[in-house]
Amino acid sequence: MGYKVAVVGATGNVGREMLGILAERAFPADEVVPLASRRSQGVEVSYGEATLKVKALETFDFSDVDICLMSAGSTVSKEWSPKIAAKGAVVIDNSSCWRYDADVPLVVPEVNADAVAGFRKKGIIANPNCSTAQLVVALKPLHDKARIKRVVVSTYQSVSGAGREAMDELFAQTRAVYVTDPIEAKKFPKRIAFNVIPQCDAFMEDGYTREEWKMMAETKKILDPKIKLTATCVRVPVFIGHSEAVNIEFEEPLSADEARDILRDAPGCLVVDKHEPGGYVTPVDCAGEDATYISRIRDDPTIDNGLVMWVVSDNLRKGAALNAIQIAEALINRKLIQAKKKAA
Ligand SMILES: NC(=O)c1ccc[n+]([C@@H]2O[C@H](COP(=O)([O-])OP(=O)(O)OC[C@H]3O[C@@H](n4cnc5c(N)ncnc54)[C@H](OP(=O)(O)O)[C@@H]3O)[C@@H](O)[C@H]2O)c1
Repeated sequence: MGYKVAVVGATGNVGREMLGILAERAFPADEVVPLASRRSQGVEVSYGEATLKVKALETFDFSDVDICLMSAGSTVSKEWSPKIAAKGAVVIDNSSCWRYDADVPLVVPEVNADAVAGFRKKGIIANPNCSTAQLVVALKPLHDKARIKRVVVSTYQSVSGAGREAMDELFAQTRAVYVTDPIEAKKFPKRIAFNVIPQCDAFMEDGYTREEWKMMAETKKILDPKIKLTATCVRVPVFIGHSEAVNIEFEEPLSADEARDILRDAPGCLVVDKHEPGGYVTPVDCAGEDATYISRIRDDPTIDNGLVMWVVSDNLRKGAALNAIQIAEALINRKLIQAKKKAA
């Protein structure tokens, strides 16, 4: 007998991806229940070959749910995750609401899978920000070998990272440019079509944006609090797939050739690094894929023990839905949860 899994935010970008990945990976679920706001009650969503009808979160009874995959934003998570956990379900949350809570593990299974055991304090496990997830998958094997001191990262983030309406905005603005309609910007602070915007999320007092702060704080929590990181996060007119130009300074020497070999064997990583036109991965290539792709690995001659590389991944998958489901699998593989129906 398998688990009863609830997917909150099932009509959203991440929620729909979660349903697809649960089916693809043959996740041991006896029942999958898609949930969203009242507005979406009765909307049909796909779960593998099946079509499921969305139920309203507000009126749903979680008593016999084992695992709840949450992707409905921080406000919903703040109110609902503790209530759902109190009913005995493990909540795996995609929002930023619980990530920095000392009693909530923040997990990327390729990096710190054992941390899932810490879920018991609050019944909640947090999934990192999409830009952090792919970054730490690529950094971890290199850190194990040569200890990372400092990282400087510039991101090129797709609009799907800002939700469904953000994707619609890129589409509508692109169309408006071609047909010379007026361009409306609602989700983004400036026009995104045929443009780039050096702001993801809100500004903080020190001039960084919250997205940039999240990359710093989450890398420390997941990988190593000693790593210094500075980020510039940029939104680009790409529908799916975040890219990152990453400059790393190590304690010990590590050549580009050694790094390439290490990353070739590392979990979740795929190296595509040919020194020829097109011998690297772009966001369009990675959409719908699970791996974190690493290209353009080269020595940085301007510092001791420096490397530069290009990291690309599907932000809706490794950056969100896939990572959440891998967390659920890590709990099951470690026998940390039991299906309630089986236990009864
Ligand atoms: N996109 C990414 O790359 C990414 C990566 C990491 C984390 N995340 C996080 O994942 C979460 C979802 O992101 P998304 O991109 O999937 O957003 P989205 O496409 O805008 O979808 C939002 C989902 O939340 C649901 N929702 C909103 N208000 C609700 C309420 N009051 N009660 C129940 N459900 C409600 C929506 O349902 P309705 O259709 O009924 O409104 C929809 O299913 C966010 O916290 C985001 O920060 C996203």
